[in-house]
This record gives sequence, structure tokens and C-alpha cells, in this order.
Amino acid sequence: MKLYEVGLCNGINEVIGITEGKWLNTAPLGIIVDDEDSDTAKLRLYKSHTRENIEKGSILWVNVNFDPLIFVISAFEDLSREFFESLNPPILKDTISWAKFDAELRGNFAELHMLEGEVIRSNIRAVNRGFNSLIEALVHATRYRISTRRELKEKIFYYGELVSKCGGKREKEAYRLLLEYTGLSSDL
Ligand SMILES: Cc1cc2nc3c(=O)[nH]c(=O)nc-3n(C[C@H](O)[C@H](O)[C@H](O)COP(=O)(O)O)c2cc1C
Repeated sequence: MKLYEVGLCNGINEVIGITEGKWLNTAPLGIIVDDEDSDTAKLRLYKSHTRENIEKGSILWVNVNFDPLIFVISAFEDLSREFFESLNPPILKDTISWAKFDAELRGNFAELHMLEGEVIRSNIRAVNRGFNSLIEALVHATRYRISTRRELKEKIFYYGELVSKCGGKREKEAYRLLLEYTGLSSDL
């Protein structure tokens, strides 16, 4: 099976990564694909539970999913059982496709080899700037959690305005949660 067949295309693919530790750990991750026509990819891994689990030998499951709430919650905590439609393999509700990767850590990167994968839905979806902006705000929010720099806060608010303008109800709810997690709700 090739990466493009599960929707992982050349460039960086923002997905939900699931690893096994004490419980299923969930986190947004960027899968780096150089050749979508192959079954290998890589992942830059900063210090996190995901990295710890991979270090201990966990498989990496990837879910292609467009739920903004799933992105925000999994960035700050682990998703509870009710977010999953299956635990074996781990598939989150409304996931479009999933893939199972063998992951080998080499320095700051994990080398990924796809073992299996499946497309389980074929929902079509137009590009939504609100969703895209939510993802941008979230990337900055995960950095802001580590270092509360002013420029990060400004970027979060900049993308937040686009979420308000272009997003749907779920993107707006996800952004509200993002502000709560980062302690920025009162700065508005
Ligand atoms: C869209 C997006 C992509 C991300 N990509 C990565 C990544 O490729 N590698 C990484 O180490 N962290 C990445 N992060 C940050 C992690 O999701 C974040 O540190 C998370 O809290 C880790 O959770 P964990 O400790 O449960 O593994 C990304 C965050 C977002 C919002």
C-alpha cells in the first residue's frame, strides 16, 4: 500500500498520531512525506509522550481527521474513550483514513514504515480557511504553552480572527477551548 492511498501526500500532513503507553496517547503530528508513491515517511519528534512511547517501541497509528475539536483537545490532553469509534485499530470518530506505522527513532526524527492502512469514509470537503487557521493557531498555542512569548500570542489572535470569520460552529468552539487551555481567554 502507498501513502497517497490513505491521503498522505508529498509535504507535511497534519494528522492525529496515536501511540500506546499506559493509555492510548493522542497528539497532532506532522507526517513528512517525500514520496507519496512509497510506504515510508518521517516525523520530527520533540520531547512529548508520543516520543516517549515510540522510544519504548510503540507502533504509531495515524488518523486523517478534520474535526477541529479533536485537534485542540489532543494537543493538550489525551482523548478519552468516547472520541474513538474503534480501539483496535485505534480510529477516532469521523476519521477519513487510518494507517499503522512501524516507527524507529533516529535522533530528532522517527523513520516511519507503513504496515497497513484503510480509507473508511469518502466525505468531500471544500477548503475552509477557518479550519486551516485553527490549525495555525493551534501550532502557535502548543509553542506558547512552552514559552509565553508575545509574538506567539499575537499569531494566535491573528489566526483566531480568521477562525471567527471563516470557521463553522465547531471551529469556533475549538478556538474557544484553545484559548482556555492556553489561559488566553481573559486577554481577549
Ligand atoms: C498541527 C500540529 C502539528 C504538530 N506536529 C508535531 C510534530 O510533527 N512533532 C512534534 O513533536 N510535535 C508536533 N506538534 C505538537 C504536539 O502535538 C504537542 O506537543 C502535543 O502536546 C504532544 O502531546 P503528547 O505529549 O501527548 O505526545 C504539533 C502540533 C500541532 C497543533
